[in-house]
Amino acid sequence: KEKLFTYDQGLTSTALCESSITYIDGDQGILLHRGYPIDELALRKSYLDVAYLLLNGELPNTEELDAFKKEISSHYMVNEQFTRLFQGFRRDSHPMAVMCAASSALAAFYHDILEDSQKSRDKTAIRLLAKMPTLAAMCYKYSIGRPFMYPQNNLSYAGNFLYMMFATPCEPYVVNPVLERAMDRIFTLHADHEQNASTSSVRSVASSGPNPFACIAAGIASLWGPAHGGANEACIKMLEEIGTVDRIPEFIARAKDKNDPFRLMGFGHRVYKNYDPRAKVMRETCHEVLKELGVTTPLLEVAMELERIALSDPYFIERKLYPNVDFYSGIILQAIGIPTSMFTVIFALARTVGWIANWKEMCEESLKIVRPRQIYTGYTERHIDK
Ligand code: SDX
Repeated sequence: KEKLFTYDQGLTSTALCESSITYIDGDQGILLHRGYPIDELALRKSYLDVAYLLLNGELPNTEELDAFKKEISSHYMVNEQFTRLFQGFRRDSHPMAVMCAASSALAAFYHDILEDSQKSRDKTAIRLLAKMPTLAAMCYKYSIGRPFMYPQNNLSYAGNFLYMMFATPCEPYVVNPVLERAMDRIFTLHADHEQNASTSSVRSVASSGPNPFACIAAGIASLWGPAHGGANEACIKMLEEIGTVDRIPEFIARAKDKNDPFRLMGFGHRVYKNYDPRAKVMRETCHEVLKELGVTTPLLEVAMELERIALSDPYFIERKLYPNVDFYSGIILQAIGIPTSMFTVIFALARTVGWIANWKEMCEESLKIVRPRQIYTGYTERHIDK
């Protein structure tokens, strides 16, 4: 008789690995990166501070941060041949499909210089952190038929990304410090999140030892889904479809209707059965950015009212459904000027450091290939008729 296995659908109560990078307490709504609470990091540190922390275990001092930033900016550019990669796509291709291809293309460019050493792994981390924003901005520029903009090494990480996204060769572009701070905070709030679907996909693919850039392509593919990173794009579309506060009850009813596949995008979480601590910072940032920009959007009013109603509705309360990281992020991204189609690309760009920190941690321990079993429900042995 086949050995019996424990069946844990979705592996929700199975530990894939040991890790010292990120800690989540879903019931308490706690998220720590190397012990630091996410709200402290998001409000008081930069994304590169947090990236350094995730990769190296400690926050950088001033000299370490300067050296880290300098090394990253010296790798911002991609090989000029990348411009030809984009020509192979229709202009209206989904940018996440293009990002999957671009990450695999990085694997092709850097395949023959990879070694199994700390130095090589650190270089891979720098290259990915540096080139993802460039590739993301190229996806956007290609989709709107505008020329690619070369990175500006003198700008901050977030500032350079905004420059590559929105500058044109025809006129000077000055980075708005409000948008730069909001963009940097969005990156930090998406940097890492324990063994979520995309990070555990990266670990699973990496466990057979392939090129790390190809492992990142697996993470991008997993993140794309609307149940995961694609929820930010789906959430803004939902808020736009609701449109006004008086239509909220109709959508709440649909979310509760078991015969209706509709779910409230940006609500619920596999681990958090409390308020996602990132959503709290995201909501504060929403108010801050819209106020500083002097813009209003009916979507924020709809989102706040939707949250208020859902949090007082017994259906959501008994299922411990709260807003997650994707609920408010889309409103900020829209205020920054990021098109909806690019929302999940922003998530992938920011999460790359989490994926690569997990990949590095795996490589530094014994690589055991991920090979789960199954509960077989098919035919017992049978034979072709004579
Ligand atoms: C991210 O894992 C991570 O860490 C991911 C992430 C990260 O940083 O990497 O945090 C990023 O992916 C956040 C989640 C983004 N996804 C969405 O916002 C999509 C909408 N959310 C749902 O699809 C859902 O909540 C999931 C996929 C996030 C979680 O799915 P589960 O684990 O199946 O949800 P559950 O077991 O908690 O559901 C319990 C009940 C069920 O109803 P019953 O069968 O008990 O009657 O709540 C219902 C679900 O149907 N439910 C919802 C709902 N989410 C769960 N009902 C309406 N709307 C929702 N959003």
